[in-house]
Amino acid sequence: MLSRRRFLGMGMGGIGALAVASGCRFPGHEQLAYGDDLTPEGLRRRAELIAVKDRLLGYPINMNSPPAEFFAWRKQLFAAGVDAFAFNNVGNPFKESPIPYNTHDYEAATIREFGKLFGFPEDDTWGFLSHSGTDSNMHGMYMGRTLLEGRTGLKPNAYFTREAHYSVQILRDLLGMETVEVGTLADGAMDPDDLAAQLARHREAPALVVATIGTTFKGAIDNVDAIQRQLAGHPSYLHLDAALFGGYLPFTDHAAEVLQRVAGADRYDSIAVSCHKFFGFPSPAGLYVMRRSVYDEFNDRFSRIHNPEYIDHVPGTITCSRDAVKPAEFFYFTTPPARARQVADAKLMLANAEHLLEQLRSRFPQLGATRANALSNTVYFRCPSAELVKKYSLATMHLERDGKSELYSHVVVMPHVSRDVLTEFLEDVAKA
Ligand SMILES: Cc1ncc(COP(=O)(O)O)c(C=O)c1O
Repeated sequence: MLSRRRFLGMGMGGIGALAVASGCRFPGHEQLAYGDDLTPEGLRRRAELIAVKDRLLGYPINMNSPPAEFFAWRKQLFAAGVDAFAFNNVGNPFKESPIPYNTHDYEAATIREFGKLFGFPEDDTWGFLSHSGTDSNMHGMYMGRTLLEGRTGLKPNAYFTREAHYSVQILRDLLGMETVEVGTLADGAMDPDDLAAQLARHREAPALVVATIGTTFKGAIDNVDAIQRQLAGHPSYLHLDAALFGGYLPFTDHAAEVLQRVAGADRYDSIAVSCHKFFGFPSPAGLYVMRRSVYDEFNDRFSRIHNPEYIDHVPGTITCSRDAVKPAEFFYFTTPPARARQVADAKLMLANAEHLLEQLRSRFPQLGATRANALSNTVYFRCPSAELVKKYSLATMHLERDGKSELYSHVVVMPHVSRDVLTEFLEDVAKA
């Protein structure tokens, strides 16, 4: 047996000799060889998994492959050198970078397009393509904390509910803020009355509020306008975690939920959306968008936190080196054919979520199937069996309902979750 460490320590000559001796080669790529733990078995296993990928029901990932035009665009980018060597998007995508091997132009164009979709003023939009929804949340919370400290001289408290994604709990810890847990309504959304009560209790410090548009397990939507009403008169910053719903709501009749501005009034300060969730971008990435004027205020303080001389401008992001490939590739998702598909996918997801809810309620009332609202693609219910959890990669959580703690699972109806997949799932529930 050859350990991974020995394999890595062999260098290319040794690896070539091993490949010849063991016959381990990728067909057509004879120069690639691998050790005993990196055999073609690994690739075969993945091929088998791909055959059943549409059964992934428990997590908000779109398992559909992007269309052929996306891969053609990827090829064009490669031909232009992007991903052929070390491009780097370090810095602010809206400023000139000292490293010309970047894709800031595509990154800025992508942010402008999504800014329009979210109703940001066209000449007042800033953002970047982050590593993930979590990375976008990190920037929202860091920028909110920095701005509020700048305005008041006081560190804000972080307000969110127990339904918020766990990344918010981690980031709150990382940023050294105190948690103010806000209670929830019956559907899992933030309770605006409790927010008012908590604000009154913590009058001394500014409030950094993280509202969730589509909570991870229940699909609840925090009411942005009600939250804003409670925040009036209190120094505050409102970040929207719209990791999943922020992708598809703009393409539905409910686009107003994620609009940044209505009748000239700001509804929130920044928004985070994951690119691999609704859009089905084939690797993790995130959108982060805010108003440029708010960013400029942050930038002023940020420039006092570090010395930006080395890259000749204030980078705007916490992370220094940033991926240049993903922003250029993700630009595809702003094009008209991609938008047409997003409209169709959003409609299909909501119709299929409704179908699943009806079927579960009528055929298995004992499971207590629930959909938090008509905008949600998530249906949760009492966990039918461990076999189903495994077969469909269901997430499970204990929920308190009717004074009892019970194990629940959910189906997140993403674009790959067709009626056929749901029929198979429902038949399995019947057997369980
Ligand atoms: C509401 C919410 N926020 C944030 C995240 C984290 O996003 P990412 O996986 O892109 O970091 C998730 C992931 O499921 C989520 O549901």
